[in-house]
Formats: sequence, structure tokens, C-alpha cells
Amino acid sequence: MSQPRILVARAIFPDIVDRLREHFDVEANPDDVIWTPQELAARLADKDGVLTTGSQRIDATLLAAAPRLQICANMAVGYNNFDVQAMTAAGVQGTNTPDVLTETTADFGFALLMATARRMTESEHYLRAGQWTKWSYDMFAGSDIHGSTLGVIGMGRIGQGIARRGAHGFGMKVVYHNRSRLSAEMEAECKASYVSKEELLRNADHVVLVVPYTAASHHTIGAAELALMKPTATLINIARGGIVDDAALAVALREGRIAAAGLDVFEGEPSVHPDLLTVPNVVLTPHIASATVPTRRAMANLAADNLIAFFGGRGPLTPVNTPAVGRRG
Ligand code: GLV
Repeated sequence: MSQPRILVARAIFPDIVDRLREHFDVEANPDDVIWTPQELAARLADKDGVLTTGSQRIDATLLAAAPRLQICANMAVGYNNFDVQAMTAAGVQGTNTPDVLTETTADFGFALLMATARRMTESEHYLRAGQWTKWSYDMFAGSDIHGSTLGVIGMGRIGQGIARRGAHGFGMKVVYHNRSRLSAEMEAECKASYVSKEELLRNADHVVLVVPYTAASHHTIGAAELALMKPTATLINIARGGIVDDAALAVALREGRIAAAGLDVFEGEPSVHPDLLTVPNVVLTPHIASATVPTRRAMANLAADNLIAFFGGRGPLTPVNTPAVGRRG
């Protein structure tokens, strides 16, 4: 019997591609070429499965061009690159990589918060530019983390990890807003109190965004929400581009309506709104919140395991949908 044909849409760890080759007929992309949607569709015309990395859009048009495709295994916890409804209607399984990246991503969220509040990159640029000629009492004075109020918008696993770090590690008062309230046990574990989004924005010293991107969460933070925040507050986005209105944020930062922002994700990335590149009070990183070697390996292995389990007839390990009837290869 011939093996299922798999496309690995972006470069990943070569030894994990080799693992896939033990089970499948694999077309990989070791040179990490960024294919157009048409090029991706052409490569998927004869494939049974695909390993995606979160930047390949899987929608009805692509599914129509890939009649054999049965599963899309995303190497990411977020899967807003999937049109889940279209996939489910077409009988195509989707999977993601939850849990394995939770603590690493929460670490990064906290690192970005600290770098932003304490103006670390701004001061480093100043030093590297040879501008440091004397010490002064207010040089790069930022805001405190310890003892301040942390507001987490989106209290899933990663949001909980950030809340725990803030409450237990830094003695922060933690407030959160989420679609649904956590159980009393989980609130106690995270030492977090549920508040409305408005109350959170008005009271938090540091606001961290960890919501999934959907039509409903588009521009969760825009000009009106930024206007509610304290002028001394910081805003951290490790969720997805589009959760923040980047143009409105750049204006708020330039006009000092909030103190600073830390952004790992951007609307239209890898393009970054040009105004964000010129305001000094923002820390910018290129979507690397889950980027440690062990975690990226765990994510790639989980995506591979989903493909192996699915074609082995054991069902996907971490499904994001439940197609009633699967496609036949
Ligand atoms: C990264 O952004 C992910 O969703 O895993």
C-alpha cells in the first residue's frame, strides 16, 4: 500500500522531517521558500496531509484545489490561518499545538513586560549609539512591576501562566477579563480577580493581551480602549496581530497617552506599521514568544504526532474541529 503524501509547508527541524519520512511520502521545504497561495495549492493537489506553521491560509479555495487533503496540522497553538468552518464542511481535520508552549510563551510575555516597563531596548539603543556621556537621576526611569496591577485580557493557559508569574513571583495584584470566568479554584491559584474589560483598562498598570484572534477579537484594543488606560500604563501584545489597532497604538505612544508598549505580533506581519518603527517607547520582537529550541521542537513533534496518529487510525491528538465525515484519500 502506498504511504500517505505529506507536505511540510515551511522548513522545520530536519530530524523531525526524517521522522515523518518513516511514515509518509514527504515533500519538504528545506529552503523555507514562502509559497504564494497558488503555489501552495499546486503542491497540495496530490497531498493527503500538510504540516503548516501558522502562516499558510487554509480556506475553501485552497481546499477545492486539494481534493485528497484530509488533515492540516498547524505547528502553532493559534489557528486563525485556518478557516475552520470551511475545513469542517470539507471533512478536513485541523490540529494545533497547545500545552507544549504554554510556559515558554508565558515566560516571554513576562520578559516583554519587564523589558517594556523598564525601557530596556530603548536604553540599549541609546548606549549603542554612543549617546551615554553622563548618568542622570531620571535617565530611562520606567515603571515598577512588583506591587503593581497586572491586567490580563484572555485568561487561557498562557494568560494563567502570566498571572501566576505576576502574582506569585512579583507580588502583583492581578485582574483579568475573559469570555468566561475561571473557576474559583483557578482564580485562587492565579490570585486573579475577574473584572470588566473597561475596569481592567482603567486600573491596570500593565495590560497583557493573550486572546485568540477571531472576528470578535479584532481590534480589542483601539483608540477608545487606549484612551481608558492610565498615561503611565504599558500594553503588551503576545496574542496576534489585529488584536490591537497598530495605527491607533502608534498615535497613543507618540502622544504619550500610554507610557509604552511591547509587541511580538503585528497587523500584516512580517510588515510592521511604519509609525511603530519610529516611536521610541515600544519594544518590538518578530513573533518569537514560543521560540526556545526545546519548545519549538516539542511543537514540531506534536504536529508530526498528530499526522502520524491520524493516518494510523488513532484520531488526532489535539484537534481543533470535528468533521462529521472525513475525506477519503
Ligand atoms: C504562535 O503564535 C502560536 O500560535 O503558536
